[in-house]
Amino acid sequence: LEAGVSPEEHLPTPEAKTLAAFYSSAADAYKRLWAPELITVSRPFLDDLPLGGASFVLDAGTGVGTLLPEIQRRAPAATVVGIDVAEGMLALGPRGFPLVIMDATRLAFRQGIYDVGVFAFVLFHLPEPLAGLREMARALKRGGTVGTITWGDDPSYEAYDIWSEELDRLGAAPASGAISRHDLVDAESKVEALLAEAGFVSARTRLTVYENRMTAEEFITHRVGHGMSRHRFESLTPDGRAECLSRVRASLERLGPEGLVDRSEVIYGVAQKPA
Ligand SMILES: C[S@@+](CC[C@H](N)C(=O)[O-])C[C@H]1O[C@@H](n2cnc3c(N)ncnc32)[C@H](O)[C@@H]1O
Repeated sequence: LEAGVSPEEHLPTPEAKTLAAFYSSAADAYKRLWAPELITVSRPFLDDLPLGGASFVLDAGTGVGTLLPEIQRRAPAATVVGIDVAEGMLALGPRGFPLVIMDATRLAFRQGIYDVGVFAFVLFHLPEPLAGLREMARALKRGGTVGTITWGDDPSYEAYDIWSEELDRLGAAPASGAISRHDLVDAESKVEALLAEAGFVSARTRLTVYENRMTAEEFITHRVGHGMSRHRFESLTPDGRAECLSRVRASLERLGPEGLVDRSEVIYGVAQKPA
């Protein structure tokens, strides 16, 4: 950890504490429902990172630590560290890894420690993704590699539109910009520009598509279980929730299987700290 700096300078910001509460309150559902989906997107991305000879790897915003064993498999000699602001998420992390409550925009690490740093589905949660990338650049060794995964376009498929319209109609709380700002990192050009501004070189991005085919009940389980959908759903009264579920179920019955396929763009980014 960094010497000579007062610990207060590394405490999570108020914005990060809001995120921590959001994630900690639904950590179980995240681990059960969402982590197994995201890991299918993250595995091919980890294959692209130079993990083989790494000594220290940082998984920033590690959540329930899904990536840690995957990283360790690819970096057998490395110490793989997971940090996150949400204590409730870290509490469900795998054993045998250093897990630290820490804000990715205020890393309490000395400069030049890590060979590889990862932000998997995290940058859009930072009020300023650039601040997180700059911190990562500081913590990386010269020539070290940063890898990022963010979402591209907004999910739009019939079931999701039905769900969102129902929440709007019932007056659910709007999607909160305090939770996520996808618009800052939802295109390859935006990710590349941020990586360059943070001082990284040789930035490469790649766009792919995540596909999740769900039954109607699986779709509803996801919507009420985690993420922004859950946040909006829980802002309704008990009667509102019941009405929402019964109307959405009725509409979903009329949908063909294609209407229940989530196809979201995913953006992978990789760049180096100058040697
Ligand atoms: C969508 S989850 C991704 C978790 C994990 N990387 C994965 O791929 O499964 C986003 C995580 O970022 C964390 N997070 C949000 N803002 C953060 C910040 N400022 N510093 C550290 N972690 C943060 C959240 O608590 C949450 O666990």
